[in-house]
Amino acid sequence: MQKRILLTGVNGQVGHALSRAFAMYEQSPYEVIGLDRNQLDLSDKTAIRRVVQDIQPEVIINPAAYTMVDKAESEAELAYAINATAPRVLAEEAAKMGARLIHFSTDYVYAGVKSAPYIEEDQTQPLSVYGKSKLAGEDAIHAVGVPHLIFRTSWVYGAYGKNFMKTILRLGAERDELRIVADQFGAPTSSSAIAEAILSVMARWDSALTGTYHLVNAGQTSWHGFAIAIVQEYNRIQQAHHLLPLKVSPENIHAISTQEYPTPAARPANSCLDCSKLARDFRVTLPDWRAALVFELLKLT
Ligand SMILES: NC(=O)c1ccc[n+]([C@@H]2O[C@H](COP(=O)([O-])OP(=O)(O)OC[C@H]3O[C@@H](n4cnc5c(N)ncnc54)[C@H](OP(=O)(O)O)[C@@H]3O)[C@@H](O)[C@H]2O)c1
Repeated sequence: MQKRILLTGVNGQVGHALSRAFAMYEQSPYEVIGLDRNQLDLSDKTAIRRVVQDIQPEVIINPAAYTMVDKAESEAELAYAINATAPRVLAEEAAKMGARLIHFSTDYVYAGVKSAPYIEEDQTQPLSVYGKSKLAGEDAIHAVGVPHLIFRTSWVYGAYGKNFMKTILRLGAERDELRIVADQFGAPTSSSAIAEAILSVMARWDSALTGTYHLVNAGQTSWHGFAIAIVQEYNRIQQAHHLLPLKVSPENIHAISTQEYPTPAARPANSCLDCSKLARDFRVTLPDWRAALVFELLKLT
């Protein structure tokens, strides 16, 4: 008997990666019903209740979110509707039908002032509307009390979707110099690494395990370090195929401070997340961020 899964946000980075990962299964234990924003608008509570009741899933996976971090500063109401109210309604509907919920959250729930990687029990203190709305979503799910797993991830990128890696490849092809923030640290995390980890977790998920987990690729870098790695690894792949490198060279990617690149939303300086709890409870660890980067870049060639 297949387990019915309702998957939201299938056109997003993580939603798309999850759809693909589920589709790779031979003799899948899951029947996945993936919905995009047109099929399920998470800003519409009535629509959420109707769709969940129609589908009657055993597991709801919710990677959809309002993810425009800077725009959220001026669109707080919409950000809260999608990031806080929608997860609450999904949790309530799941609870009514005895289903479980898998939800995603962010490193931006922390202030980023700790000198070591954050553990799940550390104090949250979001600096932005986006971070606050995501934390409100986490709190709402806890309050409903449905069996759930909330995965806080960071710096999501991949071959599919809009993200930092794609931006650097575009800018690096156009310009011979780039200036990138070097005083924010975290783990770039590929959407496919997240999806694979979720499938492994689901295979081992006993409903007694409920709560919040960090889920990021191993290691850490700055945005500046990530940009250099993107250019280095992309050029290496190009060279192996006798193709032209990017216009920008790694030496011409200049380190700047957060102060020199002001944004409407404040970001944590330390976004590093300790994933020991995930390893301990599910025996799941994610590969090093740089290995995951090469894997994503290879998909583009
Ligand atoms: N991106 C990051 O760097 C990052 C970092 C930390 C945590 N996270 C968290 O990880 C999760 C996945 O993020 P992601 O990178 O996959 O995000 P993403 O690529 O921006 O995708 C978000 C998806 O949500 C959908 N969505 C937005 N508003 C919606 C609405 N009203 N109704 C239904 N769907 C709606 C979008 O639909 P459209 O395709 O129609 O726009 C999009 O498909 C999110 O919970 C996010 O908060 C992301």
